[in-house]
Amino acid sequence: MFRPDLLKAKRILITGGGTGLGRGMATRFLELGATVYICGRREEVLQATAKELSSKGPIHAIACDVRDLAAVEAMMNSIWSAGPIDILVNNAAGNFIARTEELSPGAWNSVIGIVLMGSLSCTMACGRRWLSSKHSGTVLSISATYAPVGSAYVVPSAVSKAGVEALTRSLAVEWGNRGIRLNAIAPGPIPTQGAFSRVLPRPELETLALDRNPLHRFGTIEELANLAVFLVSDGSGYINGEVIRMDGGEFLQGAGEFSSLGRILKEEDWQAIKPKKK
Ligand code: HXC
Ligand code: NAP
Repeated sequence: MFRPDLLKAKRILITGGGTGLGRGMATRFLELGATVYICGRREEVLQATAKELSSKGPIHAIACDVRDLAAVEAMMNSIWSAGPIDILVNNAAGNFIARTEELSPGAWNSVIGIVLMGSLSCTMACGRRWLSSKHSGTVLSISATYAPVGSAYVVPSAVSKAGVEALTRSLAVEWGNRGIRLNAIAPGPIPTQGAFSRVLPRPELETLALDRNPLHRFGTIEELANLAVFLVSDGSGYINGEVIRMDGGEFLQGAGEFSSLGRILKEEDWQAIKPKKK
């Protein structure tokens, strides 16, 4: 669906690029001509992914915990020594379901540190470099559909993703006139080992998630990657400060007062409800 050289000459950093959606975006970006950097905490996972994707194009793995500001700065310096990146994808995340009253301070810190502070640190590190060298840049953050409304049982994530969306909208305005664009994608459930093992750890939770979705299926990594390509490409240059939901309509189904009637009312019920012909 895209020109094969769409991202030629683009240098892209994907945090959490060794697995799941990050790996899927890395794959698609490479196929479209980009040079890709991936980071994460686990060196061996990153190296394996880089090796597997290296036939598609230039890919570099850098071990970095985005909670560690000094490590983020060191990673950016190392990348910039070969030239500026053009695109940052804030994709690294931590999450799990838990009853909020049982969360320890360490649990809060862990998720907020990765999702909110990690995205903030990476965005600031790139933004400052872009601004000081008058280089244009694009930031794409991966949020979640519950960010604007909150969600029970994933509260550290909800708090953090809401902050990431506020960061996106705020800096889109503050930095827009200096060639920096920021957008986000809010995906619904997309099967990845990292996410589903932590937020849908039992089969009945997956069934519930499918039932809540008008399309009765999960999203795919390829669908997410295609949207990401569009949003980071120059062709979407006038989209700035937006959060694009990609969830098959799940969010809207949950919001509509009568949207779940179709799951309960059968053909005979609709016939019975209809006014009788006179
Ligand atoms: C309660 C928990 C917990 C759980 C960990 N903790 N898991 N508390 N319930 N299930 C607590 C620990 O006890 C510890 O508290 C603190 O959190 C830090 O845990 P560690 O294991 O020491 O931290 P760390 O090794 O840094 O691991 C971070 C993590 C882990 C977030 C806890 O899950 C992780 O590495 N996640 C990365 C990948 C990921 O989460 N992917 C899913 C993204 S899906 P103490 O008190 O001992 O310090 C997503 C959206 C999904 O974001 C939306 C679907 C629709
Ligand atoms: P995933 O495979 O678990 O990806 C998370 C990645 O983040 C991993 O590669 C992990 O690598 C990295 N990471 C975690 N902590 C890090 C840290 N401190 N520093 C650097 N990297 C770190 O899960 P995913 O499903 O692909 O999630 C990707 C993104 O999509 C996340 O932002 C998530 O919130 C979002 N999302 C996913 C879904 C879904 O259904 N899959 C839905 C909505 C939103 P290491 O463990 O090696 O560090």
